Amino acid sequence: MDGSEHKHPNLVVFDHPLIRDKLTSARDRATGHRAFRALLAQIAGLMVYEVTRSFEAVEIEVETPMQRMRGWRIETPITVVPVLRAGLGMTGGILEVMPEARIGHLGLARDERTLAPKAYLNKLPRDLDSGPVILVDPMLATGGSASAAVAMLRGAGARDLRMICLVASPEGVTRMREDHPDVTIYAAALDERLDERGYIMPGLGDAGDRLFGTE
Ligand code: PRP
Ligand code: URA
Repeated sequence: MDGSEHKHPNLVVFDHPLIRDKLTSARDRATGHRAFRALLAQIAGLMVYEVTRSFEAVEIEVETPMQRMRGWRIETPITVVPVLRAGLGMTGGILEVMPEARIGHLGLARDERTLAPKAYLNKLPRDLDSGPVILVDPMLATGGSASAAVAMLRGAGARDLRMICLVASPEGVTRMREDHPDVTIYAAALDERLDERGYIMPGLGDAGDRLFGTE
């Protein structure tokens, strides 16, 4: 944690050297989509450890080759929900660590002129209230997409929610605190500001385009 949480109580920023190193490579304009994709997945996998800290584990019995003992198991279903398209880039890394997680999909596209998000897909498990939900989107810019995504998740029954992103803007974190104060945001970095087109500065550009090579 890097101290930003004092200014933004809904934000946890990672100050881990491995995450910083990989994020710097992802930011580099010379990084192509193949390496960018790998970096996003790796960073997400590293972040999972902290993001899942509050998950409930129940005590169970396990038999080792030597004897019986008490162990722990997370028994509630975990749901990972990427916001298309760019959220898909972090989802593979999360699944590496939590292969049993279910995946819901939300499709949201930001209107380039108004910056308002437009929903085009909502495919979620029915019993979202049965366990923790992780919303995944690498970019938290104006916060419009994240706020709409949380509203869609709540509408579908989600109660135990957190968001994982790569780069957040102060404007996006503030918007989320106003709209959904109980949702903790885990970010690899908190950047300086938004530019006049709603892009995060210094940021990493358009995450979806860089991920899929559509720039
Ligand atoms: C990007 C990003 C977020 C959104 C952030 O997606 O992945 O979903 O913009 O901006 P906001 O905080 O101002 O809403 P985009 O709409 O460009 O779609 P894409 O992932 O398909 O490229
Ligand atoms: N979406 C992105 O992909 N990048 C930004 O900087 C802002 C929104």
